[in-house]
Amino acid sequence: MMEKFSFFTKGRLNTKVVGKEVVFYEETDSTNDDAYNLAMNGVDEGWVVIARNQRKGKGSRGRVWTSPGGQNIYLSVVLRPKVSTEKASLLTILATLAVAETINDYISKGVSIKWPNDVLVSEKKISGILLEMGIDRNKDRFFIVGIGINVNSTKLEIPTVVSDLATSLYLEIGYAVSIKDVLFKLLYRLDHWYGKYNTYGFEEIIERFRAQCATIGKTVSVTVGESLIEGLALGVDEDGFLLVEDEDSVVKKVISGHLKSEV
Ligand code: BTN
Repeated sequence: MMEKFSFFTKGRLNTKVVGKEVVFYEETDSTNDDAYNLAMNGVDEGWVVIARNQRKGKGSRGRVWTSPGGQNIYLSVVLRPKVSTEKASLLTILATLAVAETINDYISKGVSIKWPNDVLVSEKKISGILLEMGIDRNKDRFFIVGIGINVNSTKLEIPTVVSDLATSLYLEIGYAVSIKDVLFKLLYRLDHWYGKYNTYGFEEIIERFRAQCATIGKTVSVTVGESLIEGLALGVDEDGFLLVEDEDSVVKKVISGHLKSEV
């Protein structure tokens, strides 16, 4: 059942685009799927779907995002930017930056970004972002930015995110925080950076992302489809791609892929 503004009341949310409408579910399969269906039916950008619990939370590369109820953030935003296809993955960069800054409000040290879409605290994953794209019934392209943040999960409830050690805000700071407060901060940050992008483009967003990106300067091993790229992560370029220098000093652009290891 679709319920508007239940435990999450939009009341004092005063954003320009993100959070224009907020749909809240006690339980759903996946907020990304709900947002996708809303977008297919033509809702404006800025609609947000939030759930207390997801039955079939989706992670990157077909993995499951385990979504225990009531303790964490499961949220998806519909966006309709006029971005070129090459630059579309910068929406992930934008959202990852917004999440990292939100976490930074609670934890001043040790927050970093693992390119392209993981926010880490003390090298453990606290959040993940899943970007999906679709074409609606009017043939207009849209994006769904899905964000999961481990807020008040206790150790045993942390989802098993294959090979990634996970953590939560609660585990890092030692007390539970208001999920609503985290949600508000997050929606403001997303709105802020989305507004910046619309006015000025992605430049400042990429700069801020680079400054927090722990991947840069590390030796990485990235699986891209069937192939493996290994080398030194030199930086993130203007399209959000990771630049990796291999042992023959050839610099490769990694568009997306799974960063398997950092040495
Ligand atoms: C990752 O694997 O790192 C991405 C995880 C994305 C999880 C979020 S939770 C809200 C939204 N709905 C989903 O089904 N997935 C995303």
